[in-house]
Formats: sequence, structure tokens, C-alpha cells
Amino acid sequence: VSDVIKVGLLGYGTVGCSLADLLSERKDALKEITGIDIELGAIAVRNKAKYAFAGVAENVEITNDAASLVANPNIDIVVELIGGLEPARSLILEAFKSGKPVVTGNKELLANFGSELFAAAEANSVDLLFEASTAGAIPILRPLRESLLGEDVRRIIGIVNGTTNYILTEMSENGVAYDDALTQAQELGFAEADPTADVEGYDSAAKAAIMASLAFGKDVTAKDVYCEGISKVSAFDMVLAKKLGYVIKLLAIAQKYENYDVGVRVYPALVPDTHPLAAVRGSYNAVFVEGAASSELMFYGKGAGGKPTASAVLGDLVDAARNLKSSTHRVVPSGEPADMRPIEALTSAFYIVLEAKDEPGVLSAIAGQFAHYGVSIKAIEQEPLNTYSKIDEDKLISRMVFITRRASERDFAKLVDELASFEAVEQIKNVIRVVE
Ligand SMILES: NC(=O)c1ccc[n+]([C@@H]2O[C@H](COP(=O)([O-])OP(=O)(O)OC[C@H]3O[C@@H](n4cnc5c(N)ncnc54)[C@H](OP(=O)(O)O)[C@@H]3O)[C@@H](O)[C@H]2O)c1
Repeated sequence: VSDVIKVGLLGYGTVGCSLADLLSERKDALKEITGIDIELGAIAVRNKAKYAFAGVAENVEITNDAASLVANPNIDIVVELIGGLEPARSLILEAFKSGKPVVTGNKELLANFGSELFAAAEANSVDLLFEASTAGAIPILRPLRESLLGEDVRRIIGIVNGTTNYILTEMSENGVAYDDALTQAQELGFAEADPTADVEGYDSAAKAAIMASLAFGKDVTAKDVYCEGISKVSAFDMVLAKKLGYVIKLLAIAQKYENYDVGVRVYPALVPDTHPLAAVRGSYNAVFVEGAASSELMFYGKGAGGKPTASAVLGDLVDAARNLKSSTHRVVPSGEPADMRPIEALTSAFYIVLEAKDEPGVLSAIAGQFAHYGVSIKAIEQEPLNTYSKIDEDKLISRMVFITRRASERDFAKLVDELASFEAVEQIKNVIRVVE
């Protein structure tokens, strides 16, 4: 391998474009530090005409033909910043076959086909590096994969989606309604035109799967992750949570249990306002790692955006270039499929809001149901709603908010079903988990 490493860049969008800029900015410094000249060799996009005025360096070829870029013998390392499953997957596999390392930021691909890709990289003795796939600029995957190898990582709790964290922060701090906060996020360029993957939690689920696989050494895929989005969280929940000493965040949680089985889930949850994750505001991300010996660690920073994400890609690129020069590669995790613990078999504390008839004995009857299902109540808030029931105009309604202690998910679901059919209960307004 010569002293010049030529990079083939697949995708010249938000991240690809920032990577090209950052590489040209940092090129001389990187050469000084590593002795390696890392150069952009060629770029592939889908629609070349769109990039006619993109200001790419003069001597860099732009092509519509990604496959030929990958096969080009002048290209030493492939950087995949196209996104999605295909053709990204096939292009990466082709790169490995030609002995080329790959750097990618593609969480969706890794969370669905990670084990196939890791096996193919290992079979061809090349790097597959993917720091940018989870939490943008924040170094979290390399710490999980290397620095924490000796650690017994018990639990990871992450805020790994900037769009939803921005929306929830706006709702909590400025009383903005969910729909308005989403529109604001779109206007500011944080949220995609189709925000489904973000607000339904799928983006966080892919990242949770990647983190769980690295932390626990077992293969966890996106379909193993229980997932609930943020659309059920109302401005009212935000106000109540604050009053009770919590903030609501969309969390990605990966946990290892006594028998080495693993539970991974994404859901909105009440976080105590004293917890470090409660202070993660706006489009920022953070990952909180709990280890047996290390105790608590927190990784914090910009979780998305062209330049911050390109910073993570460039770090991997330098690593891959160094490894290529010294004919080595990072050992890729090749775990067996994880033994997944389903959500019903987990435990959690809960916040439940319901509206019930404001009559003597109702609260104690409801509390009796909690006791019947083995759910302890930690806090109660009750306030009369100055409105009459639609069903029975003589009856006043009161709103009751309960925070429970940790309970079985299965038993709690039964309790909610039971309460919903309870004569005195008008409606169950919301159920959100609480993280301790
Ligand atoms: N944006 C972020 O903040 C961020 C953060 C972390 C990770 N990531 C990940 O980084 C990757 C890239 O994201 P992005 O935001 O930069 O995406 P983007 O702005 O949509 O850019 C995608 C690029 O890929 C090109 N492309 C799409 N399909 C292609 C194909 N079949 N062949 C060749 N080129 C193709 C597009 O070209 P055309 O314009 O011609 O279609 C475009 O240049 C994704 O995996 C994403 O999940 C992004």
C-alpha cells in the first residue's frame, strides 16, 4: 500500500459533503500526525446532475456508477454514506471481496445485517468501522468495543435521537404542543420530511441494537428491540412530570440480566430531574453506561448533523488507513444471537394518568386494584377536573396520577386492562414508564 490512501466516497449528501470538506481541511495535519496522505479519490451519487455545482475538488471524479467506484483498483478504502439497506449492503460486501476496508454511518444496515457484514469483513481480513452510525459525533461504539472490553456492562441508557429530544425539550420547557414542536424541528432541519423513523423510535431502536451487540458481545438486531414512539406524550404529561420531579425523554435502553439474557427497548420515559440524562436538551444526545467496576459513565455531544457526524467518520477513516498500511484490522464482534428477554418479562416503574368519578371510595378501590396486581404506589396526585362527565352529568370527575414502584410489565398490563374496565374509571389518559 502506497503512502497515499485513496478514498471512494459513496453518497455526497449531508454527511458525505461534510466529510469531503473536513478531509480537505484536516488532510495536512493528518499527514503530519500519521504519515499517511488520505485523499478523496472518487465520489458516487445517484443523480450526478444534481451535484454539478456542488463544488467538489477539481480532480475528484463524480459518478453515478457506485459499483464501478467500489471495483476501481485505485480506490483503497470505501466510505458508505448512502444510507438504507440496498444497494449499501451489496456495495459493502463487494468492497470486502476486493479486500477494501469500509467505513459507514449506516445504522439501519448494521442493525439488520450487522452479523453478515462483520463475518464478511472478518473473512476478508478488513475493517468495518461504524462509529458514526450511533450518536453522531459522540465516541460511544469504540469505547464499548475496546475501552470497556474488560468491563461487565450491565445497562446502557441513551438519548440517541436528536429530533425527538428537540421535540420533547420544546414541549417541556416552552409548553409547545407535539405537532408544533415537530413542525419547528422540520423547519430547523432537525427532522426529516417523513419523521416516522425518528418519532416512532425506529432510528433509536437501530442504535440500541448496535450498542447492545457491542456491549454484550451477542448479536442483537433491530427486530429484537421493543419500540414505542413519542407521539403519545402530551404537553399535559410534561407539566405533570415536571411537578412530580421528572422530565420525559425518549430512551434507548439495553440491559443484561443474571442469565446473560438481554432486554433492549426504546420508549418515552420519565427520568428523575436529578439524573444526568435529564440535562440533555435540544438536539443533543447522550449515552449513560453502567458497568460493574467502572460504575456510571456518560458520553455527551452532538448526535447528528453533517460536520459532527463527519468527524466520527473521519476518525474511523484514519484508523482504517493506518490498519491498511500495517496490514492489520480490528477484530469484529461476531457474537451468537442474543437470548432476548421479551418486554413482558421485564420490570419497570410506571406513571399512569386516569380520570375517574370523584366519589367517596373510588381512590381506595383503585388503590386496591394496584395492590391486587402487586403494584406499589410511590406517589399520587389527585385533582378535581372542573368538568362534568359526558356520561353522567351529575358526577364530578377527578384526574388521578400515580407513580408506581418497580413492577412486572405483565402484571402492570393486566392492572391497566382491569382499571380500563372499572366502572368508576372514565378513561386511562396515558401510561408512560419511569426510569430509576
Ligand atoms: N445526517 C445525519 O446527521 C446523520 C447522522 C448520523 C448518521 N447518518 C447516516 O449517514 C448516512 C448518510 O446520511 P445523509 O444524511 O448524509 O444522507 P443524504 O443527505 O440523504 O445523502 C445521501 C447521499 O447518498 C446518495 N445516494 C443515495 N442512493 C444512492 C445510490 N443508490 N447510489 C449512489 N449514491 C446514492 C445520494 O445521492 P442523490 O442525491 O443523487 O440521491 C446522496 O448524495 C445514512 O446512513 C445516515 O443514517 C446521518
